[in-house]
Amino acid sequence: WLPTLHVAVTGAAGQIAYSLLPRIANGEMLGEDQPIVLHLLEVPQALSKLEGVVMELQDCAFPLVQGIVATDDLRKGFADVSVALLVGAKPRSQGMERKDLLSSNANIFAEQGKALNEVAANDLRVFVVGNPANTNALICAANAPRFNPERFMSMTRLDQNRTQYMLAEKAGCKIPEVDRVIVWGNHSSTQYPDITHARIKGESARKVINDEKWIREVMIPKVQQRGAEVIKARGASSAASAAAAVVDHMRDYWHGAGDRWCSVGIPSDGTYGIDEGLWYSVPVMCPGGHYRRILNLPIEEFSASMMEKSRKELVEERDAVRHLIPKEFGEKMYT
Ligand code: NAI
Repeated sequence: WLPTLHVAVTGAAGQIAYSLLPRIANGEMLGEDQPIVLHLLEVPQALSKLEGVVMELQDCAFPLVQGIVATDDLRKGFADVSVALLVGAKPRSQGMERKDLLSSNANIFAEQGKALNEVAANDLRVFVVGNPANTNALICAANAPRFNPERFMSMTRLDQNRTQYMLAEKAGCKIPEVDRVIVWGNHSSTQYPDITHARIKGESARKVINDEKWIREVMIPKVQQRGAEVIKARGASSAASAAAAVVDHMRDYWHGAGDRWCSVGIPSDGTYGIDEGLWYSVPVMCPGGHYRRILNLPIEEFSASMMEKSRKELVEERDAVRHLIPKEFGEKMYT
């Protein structure tokens, strides 16, 4: 067996965590031979609910779980953690745009960054799910200077999965037969699900689908609005699918994804015309434990205009939280 790994999940009494925790605990994410200690973080008002979640996890008798820490204290919760899944945030309710969420969540992620900087393990990896995920990841990384910003990722895997499903349904093929789908930009309605490079059974997806109108007028807006559609139908935001996307991304990142492409929000290196240091979703390869950007993809005019919309939105988000970005980190971004 491998040495025990400490894994933190914030928002642990929330609905995504309720689907996510059992899947982490049974080894689907980090491996069936990876013992873990779960660190569950919540706000004080949700601690009694969290107690119930802890009881259920205990009652599952997961062989891999060596211990559970449940707390509202960031320094206790993040002590020695190697993986931090930052799920806790105020969820978007019906009719609410992500920008409204920005101010209420920005402070949380600055505080979490500072605490991780003080007490997390040296090999820390952070995956931000709580919205607005890209900018929250930026704030968190900016406040945790001990760690390479590349270690902070934000989730767009759910959007990638949604696109893959839609393509498979349209083409009448199996989901794993669809690959190289890209989600560019923000996890918001400006995101750009791009199938220019996608393949279906190894063939160009665009050629197989052969319906540009459907791609632009049905698929892209449907993926962009899927979160809102789920909220409308369910009266609550995506939870089981969000948890599945966390497991998918972290498993691929941790163990490697072979030649499959994964989309994830990471600090831009300035390529594809995206401002350096903006947390922007791009395609990467996951060799195991880190990622490599897929560079030099040809970008058509339509794609460039879609990517630019999301870039602009992320610049606005970044500028709205500028006061929470420490000077040394900000200097790199605002030159
Ligand atoms: P939820 O409201 O059911 O649970 C959130 C939990 O976080 C609550 O229990 C709350 O008490 C807790 N929380 C709030 N502030 C916290 C803090 N400072 N520290 C620790 N815990 C804290 O929400 P749900 O459905 O679990 O969603 C969580 C977040 O994930 C939301 O921001 C939602 O918008 C986002 N989301 C992101 C997706 C993505 O693809 N990136 C997809 C779906 C949801």
